Amino acid sequence: MNKILLKTLLGHKFKTPPIWLMRQAGRYLPEYKETRKKAGSFLDLCYNPKLATEVTLQPLRRFDLDGAILFADILLIPNALGQHLEFIEGKGPSLKPIKNFSDYKNLNEVNKIHDILNPVYDAVSNIKSKLEKNITFIGFAGSPWTVSTYMIEGQGSKDHIKTKTFMLQHPEIFDKLILKIEKATVEYLSKQIVAGVDAIKIFDSWAGSLPGHYLEKYSLNPMKNIAKELKKRFPKIPLIVFPRGVGPMYEKFSKMKEFNCIAIDSNIDITWAKNNIQKNSVIQGNLDPAYLVSGGKDLVNKTIDIVEKFSTASHIFNLGHGITPNAKIENVELLIKTIKDKI
Ligand code: CP3
Repeated sequence: MNKILLKTLLGHKFKTPPIWLMRQAGRYLPEYKETRKKAGSFLDLCYNPKLATEVTLQPLRRFDLDGAILFADILLIPNALGQHLEFIEGKGPSLKPIKNFSDYKNLNEVNKIHDILNPVYDAVSNIKSKLEKNITFIGFAGSPWTVSTYMIEGQGSKDHIKTKTFMLQHPEIFDKLILKIEKATVEYLSKQIVAGVDAIKIFDSWAGSLPGHYLEKYSLNPMKNIAKELKKRFPKIPLIVFPRGVGPMYEKFSKMKEFNCIAIDSNIDITWAKNNIQKNSVIQGNLDPAYLVSGGKDLVNKTIDIVEKFSTASHIFNLGHGITPNAKIENVELLIKTIKDKI
């Protein structure tokens, strides 16, 4: 097996760390924009196996990356559970928000999600058949907490006040919702694995907005349950967790034995992470995506700093969050050259 990313997830260490980038397929690539136009809407792109395959492969044609991430979205689960979803140009996702028990009751049964998600599994097998043998193929889903914020807010939010108020005022309904997303996510990820992904990542992009002990209850525990079930079904498939924004609580997340790797955001100090996290788990991260806009010496120096700090144990190079639409292609090239050629 020559998949160095997969081997690193399993605890091997290479002189040069493997690299992939969150949101490596996306609007900073002109060929993505073209395929996206051809597809019609963003959702049409996600549910078109041929075009989803095309955009998954686009960054690999341009860059010397070690991993491919399935082109899909964390909001396909709410959509598959029956929630109306669209992506509005310049505004982002828009869903019909869940406000009460009757909205919750109207969601589809978990076993119905595949009726909608089948094209995603077709995309996985299609991508699998086209990937070079040295590329690690990553499947993914959102965490129950992060997905619930979109289901309740009905759109992206910075403070998640509606979701947290719902959680505090209607704990019985909220618990049911979290459990339902958890169960749907296990089934969704299991099908991705059967269709051919090599590893799984769970994005908890909004973990950082949960207060106090709720972080453990609604972020950590549901993700742990998902990971436990996946490990029972597929013991060999490595799992990555990304509890973005949890600060010093990263240490606790990194001790979950069910996950092989923890992705750290750009706010985390790399020396602290090396001393407190890397001893518990394989580490992934954590260049700020802004360096891919600004480029130059700063990008080179920061990249070398991250690679050197994490070089004593297993490390996968990545950003601390998704690449932005204004990232420059030449800067992505410079980043990869810096890592692979050690300039
Ligand atoms: O290349 C990849 O990383 C694979 C595909 C991928 C997308 N979204 C494609 C996408 C992945 C892994 C995601 C995850 C995702 N989606 C997250 C978790 C990671 C994170 O960024 O925190 C979240 C929170 C979402 C929800 C989501 N999807 C939002 C809030 C938005 C709108 C914001 C935006 O960037 O426009 C999306 C849209 C989206 N998902 C785009 C892409 C390429 C842009 C849509 C477009 O083409 O217009």
